[in-house]
Amino acid sequence: MSLKEKYKDYFLIGAAVNTHTIQTHKDLILREFNSITCENEMKYGEVTNDGVTYDFADADKIVAFAKDNGLAMRMHTLLWHNQSPPPIFKNTDRDRLLQVFRGHVNRMAQRYGKLVYACGVANEVIDDKGSEYFRKSPWLSIIGDDFVDVAFEYAKEAMPNVTLCYNDYNESEPEKSLKIAKLVRDMKNKGIPIDCVGLQAHWNIVSPSVDEIKRAFELYAGLGVKLHITELDVSLFAFEDRSVLKEPSLELIKRQADFYREVFAIFRQYRDIVESITTWGVADDESWLSNFPVPNRKNWPLLFDDNHQSKPCYEAIMDF
Ligand code: XIL
Repeated sequence: MSLKEKYKDYFLIGAAVNTHTIQTHKDLILREFNSITCENEMKYGEVTNDGVTYDFADADKIVAFAKDNGLAMRMHTLLWHNQSPPPIFKNTDRDRLLQVFRGHVNRMAQRYGKLVYACGVANEVIDDKGSEYFRKSPWLSIIGDDFVDVAFEYAKEAMPNVTLCYNDYNESEPEKSLKIAKLVRDMKNKGIPIDCVGLQAHWNIVSPSVDEIKRAFELYAGLGVKLHITELDVSLFAFEDRSVLKEPSLELIKRQADFYREVFAIFRQYRDIVESITTWGVADDESWLSNFPVPNRKNWPLLFDDNHQSKPCYEAIMDF
C-alpha cells in the first residue's frame, strides 16, 4: 500500500517538486503522492524578473506533469517578501503597486486557476518575535496595513473556487500562533475571503514539541477554517545546531520516526478540517534543508531516503 492509498479517506498527500525531481523522482511521486506544489516555479520572482515580462516555461512543465498524471496541485505563492521581482517595489506607490500586483494575480489565475485546488495567497507576513505584528517588507511599507486583505480579495475575484490560504512557518510557536490566529480572525470579521491556514511545518526532532503542535491545532481549528500542512519536513538538527553529520545515527532516525508518528496522529485527529499534507520535497537526496540554514550541510528530513527507499518515519505513519 502507498501513502496516498493509506490516507485516501483522510487528506491529499502532497510533495513539493521542481523541474528536476519530476524526472528523477517520477516513479516515487506517482506511486506515493496525489498532490504537488511547485517548490519555486510559481513564485512571483520566478515567473517574472521585472514584473512585466513573464516566463511560465518551468511552471508549465510541472503543471503538464500534474495533468498527465492526474495529480492535484497547490499554487505557491502570490505575495511574499522573498523571491518577488525587486523592480515592482521601485519608484512606486500604493496604487501603482496594487495595480501591478492585481495584474500578477490575474495572470497566474488565468493560466493556472482552473488547475489548482488551493493557493497560498500571502506567505510569512507575520513577524516572528517581539512586539512587531507584521514583518517589515516593501509590501507592508508601500501598501499599508491592509495589504493582506487586498491580496485575498484579488485572489478571490480571480479564482473564486480555489481554497485560499494564509501560509506561515513557526506556526506552532505559542506567541506567533496567536498572531496568526488574530490575523485570520480579523480577516474573517471584516469579511475577507480567507478559507484556510497553511501550516508550513518545517519542524525538527527537538522543536516544536508535540504539545505545542497540539495547542496550535486547537487554536487554528477554532477559527473555522481549513488547515493545510504545506511544507512538512523534520530536520535532524535543532535550528541553532550547526554541527555536521556523515550519517544519521539509528537513535536520530528513531526519534524522527516517533515524531512523524505523533504529528500524523494529530493530523488524523483533525481530519475533518485538514485537507492536505505536503512534504517539502520528495526524498532526502533533494531537500532544501541540505542547504538551509547551514549551506551544504546534509540533512535527512523526509519520508524517503537518498535511494528513494522508505524510511522508518514512513513505516511509522503507515502503521496506524
Ligand atoms: C525554498 C525552496 O525550497 C528553495 O529551493 C529556495 O531556494 C528557497 O525557498 N518557506 C517557503 C518556501 O514558503 O517557498 C521555501 O522554499 C521554504 C520556506
